[in-house]
Amino acid sequence: MMKVAPSILSADFGNLARDVAEICQGGCDLVHVDVMDGHFVPNLTIGPVVVSAVAKAATKPLDIHLMVQNNTFFVELFAPLKPKYISFHIEEEKHPHRLIQKIRSYGIKPAIVLNPNTIPQELEYILGDLDMVLLMSVNPGFGGQSFIDTVIPKAMKLDEMRRRLNPKCLIEVDGGVSDKNIQALKDAGVDVVVAGSYVFKHENRAKAIKSLQI
Ligand code: DX5
Ligand code: ZN
Repeated sequence: MMKVAPSILSADFGNLARDVAEICQGGCDLVHVDVMDGHFVPNLTIGPVVVSAVAKAATKPLDIHLMVQNNTFFVELFAPLKPKYISFHIEEEKHPHRLIQKIRSYGIKPAIVLNPNTIPQELEYILGDLDMVLLMSVNPGFGGQSFIDTVIPKAMKLDEMRRRLNPKCLIEVDGGVSDKNIQALKDAGVDVVVAGSYVFKHENRAKAIKSLQI
C-alpha cells in the first residue's frame, strides 16, 4: 500500500501539536518536516526547537526534508531528535557518500532528494547506499504549488534503476500530490507520497490520508 507523509508546512502553526496529533491518529505513515534555510530555497521554516515539539506530539516517525546549504550542520542539529529519515538535496552536496555515512552513524535512514530538473542517472553510483530517494514534483520552497507531471516518467526510470541496484530503496514523491495524481504515482512504482495542502485543507484529514493509501 502507498505510504503517506503529510507535510506539516500546511498545518496551523498556532495549533501545531494538535494538527500533528490529528494526522497521526488519522492514520498517516510518517510526519514530513520541511526544513528551509532561506538560502537554498527562498523561504525559511523551522529549527530543532519547534521540531522537538513536533516529535513530542507525533506518534508516527519523522521524515525530515532538508532544503539547506550546509547539510552537515543541519544533520548534526536534527539527529538528536531521532527521525526515521533525513533527506538532503544532491544539488547542494559535494560529498554525498560522506554525509550518508554520517546520517547512518546516528541510526537514521539516509535519503537523497532530486529537484524536478535533476536526472535520476545522477544516482547511479550512490543508489546502493540509500534507503529512499525523494523526487520533487514542484520546485522546493513552498506548499500549494502545482504538480510537475514529468515526475511520472522519472519515477519509472528510477524504479528500473533501483530494481537493478537496490530493490529495497523506497521512492518518495513530494509536491502537488492529491487524489488526482495518486494512481499515476502508484503505477509508476512510487512507495511514499508527501502531501501538504491536500491533507491539511481537506475537511476530513483522516479521509484525505486514506484516499492516498491505495
Ligand atoms: C515543498 C515541500 C513540500 C510541500 C508540499 O518545498 O518540500 O513538502 O510542503 O506541499 P504540497 O503538498 O501542498 O505541494
Ligand atoms: Zn518536503
